Amino acid sequence: MSEVRVWLNGRIVDSEGARLHHLTHSFHYGLGAFEGVRAYEVGAGCGAVFRLREHMTRLMNSCHLVTLDKGLQWSGDQLGAACVEALRANHLASGYLRPVVYLAHGAMGVGAAGNPVHAMIAAWKWGAYLGEDGLQHGIRACISSFQRPGHATTLTKGKVTGQYVNSILAKREALMNGYDEAILLNEQGYITEASGENLFMVQDGLLVTPPLGMNILGGITRATIIEVASDLGFTVVERPFARDELYCADEVFLTGTAAEVTPVREVDGRKIGSGTRGAITAELQAVYFDIVYGRNPKYERWLTRYELAASQGAGVVAVG
Ligand SMILES: Cc1ncc(COP(=O)(O)O)c(C=O)c1O
Repeated sequence: MSEVRVWLNGRIVDSEGARLHHLTHSFHYGLGAFEGVRAYEVGAGCGAVFRLREHMTRLMNSCHLVTLDKGLQWSGDQLGAACVEALRANHLASGYLRPVVYLAHGAMGVGAAGNPVHAMIAAWKWGAYLGEDGLQHGIRACISSFQRPGHATTLTKGKVTGQYVNSILAKREALMNGYDEAILLNEQGYITEASGENLFMVQDGLLVTPPLGMNILGGITRATIIEVASDLGFTVVERPFARDELYCADEVFLTGTAAEVTPVREVDGRKIGSGTRGAITAELQAVYFDIVYGRNPKYERWLTRYELAASQGAGVVAVG
C-alpha cells in the first residue's frame, strides 16, 4: 500500500503527522463522534461517495448530542468536502471513510469543557465487512447476552465512540461462540439491531424492522432500504418484535454502510427460512449495489461523484 494520508484539522498529513497526543481526552474517556462512509468506483478513476450529505448531517447531530459541536470549527459541508479530499489523497476510487470528531489534550478531568475539538478523516480500502460468502449465502448470528443501552442510559441516535464498547463486547462474545454477528435486545426483550447494523425481517412478503423510536441507530442504509423497498412496491412496517418472531421469519437481513445488505441464514442455531439468502433479500441487495455503483439513475442524487485525477483540493465538490 502506498503511504497513508490523513485529513487532520484541515490539512492532509502523512501517518507520522497524524499521531495523537498520549493525553488526547477522547482516547481516555471515549467522547468522540464518528461516521462510517463508503465510496464506490463508478468508472475509471472515478468514485462516488454514497449519501455523503446524510452522513455529515448525522455526524453534526452526533456532535450536537454530546456537545462536541461547541468547539468544532468545520461545518458538515466542509467535512464532506474533506472526505473527498481524503479519498483523493489516498488515490481511492472506492474505499471506506472514517471521520472522527474528538476532544484533544488539555485538561484531564472528565468534564474538560475547554479542550480543543479536533477532526480527523481516515480512508482505506475495505471489502465486505461480514465477508463475501456472507453477502452470498448469509451469516450466522446469535442473540447477545449484552443489551443495547436504553434511552435513559445513553444517546442512542448518536454515533459516539465510547458507546461502541457495548457493541464490541457483544461482537467479541458472538465470535468467541462461533457466530459471525451479535443481535442485541433492549430492556424489554425486543430486538434492536446488530453490533454495527440495523436489522430487517421478511414475514409473508412484508418487511418488518424496529421503529426509530426504539433504542437503535438511525441507519442510513436502513433509511435507504425502506425508501427503495417502498418504491419497489414492498410494504415496510416499523414495529417492535421479539426473538420468537425473528426465529420464525422467512428471511432476515442486516443493513449498514460497512455490511451493506447482508443476509442472516441462522439465529441461535435456528435456520432462517431456507437457510440461505432469501429471494427478497437478494432483490434488495442487487438494487442496493446498482444504486451505490451508479447504475440506477433514479437515485443519482445520493451519489457524490469525484475524479481521482483532480489535483488535491481542486474542484468544487457538490456534496450529494
Ligand atoms: C450500531 C449500529 N447500528 C446500525 C448501523 C448502520 O448504520 P448505517 O447504515 O448508517 O451505516 C451502524 C453503522 O454505522 C451501527 O454502528
